[in-house]
Amino acid sequence: MKILGIESSCDETAAAIIEGEREKIELKAQVVASSLALHAKTGGVIPENAAREQLKYILPVIKETISDAKTDLESIDAIAVTYGPGLIGSLLVGVETAKTLSYVLQKPLVPVNHMVGHIYANWLMPNVTITFPAIALVVSGGHSDLLLMKKHGDFTLLGGTRDDAAGEAFDKIGRLLGLPYPAGPIIEKLAAAGDPKRFRFPRPLIGSDDYDFSFSGLKTAVLREVQKHTSLDDQTIKDLARATQDAIIDVLTKKTIKAAKEHGVQTILLSGGVAANQTLHKKFSELSLQTSLKLFTPAKNLCTDNAAMIAAAAYYTYKPVPRDRITANPELYFEAKR
Ligand code: KG4
Ligand code: ZN
Repeated sequence: MKILGIESSCDETAAAIIEGEREKIELKAQVVASSLALHAKTGGVIPENAAREQLKYILPVIKETISDAKTDLESIDAIAVTYGPGLIGSLLVGVETAKTLSYVLQKPLVPVNHMVGHIYANWLMPNVTITFPAIALVVSGGHSDLLLMKKHGDFTLLGGTRDDAAGEAFDKIGRLLGLPYPAGPIIEKLAAAGDPKRFRFPRPLIGSDDYDFSFSGLKTAVLREVQKHTSLDDQTIKDLARATQDAIIDVLTKKTIKAAKEHGVQTILLSGGVAANQTLHKKFSELSLQTSLKLFTPAKNLCTDNAAMIAAAAYYTYKPVPRDRITANPELYFEAKR
């Protein structure tokens, strides 16, 4: 089965084609057009700007994907599209394009939750065999969610962020340090040359009984430290980046491993933009080895927003919906069943 995936929930415009047979899927082609350079200039995503760019890119991106996959639209079996959560204008670009294609080509349309898509990026890695149940940590710019996944499409939300998401914390703290958006990858680079002992920031909710996250207190702690300095020299920025990253990694790893132990789970699935952080991955790998857990992480380019993950989610949770019943839902979330 060949699926065309379309993703336009935030600042990327993406399309991909995957081909699936039984339990295995293969990524045939994917194109991601990013308007990040534009958002770096404004210090963040301005929704109207993002949607306007996506409207320009969506058709060329789909065309290039089809051509890269050496196929044609008629050979596609189904279309998958992100319908939420995300920015309304951005989501509409993808949803309306997908609906039109589905109508013109008379192909089934599968609406996909963007967060579920992130988790399914793990199935795009070659030669992986993922067994259930699994604990999934999705850490992106808008969410930090911990879920129990019992089988395909079966998610129980164990905890989520109470305020800032992990990626948002990286981005907001980056702004305090004078770094451009998105700051996560830059903080990771700077942290590598930072002194781990110079600053220590709080690890919010690290020992709480639930699986919730909260990162706004960390941002305030960094702000207080920044205010003590009349100007930030390069080494201080690196040291602050290191302390920030250490605090976020500590909380994410500790809570995820605790969830795995308490639910008797042996599989951990990392995903979302923050999972592209190699230091986070390394820490998780070390802890997984110690605790005999099996860790899965998508390749870096599949951690950040892409359409291959949307097509993958559609393949494993295949539920086409009539076109007139699909609408963009910016607030879409996992059902809370704690
Ligand atoms: O999943 P994603 O591409 O978009 C959303 O769905 O939000 O995640 C983007 C987030 C941004 O906050 C960005 O700073 C963060 O992921 N990010 C990172 C890294 N790469 C991207 N955070 C930490 N380290 C990284 N290497
Ligand atoms: Zn995302």
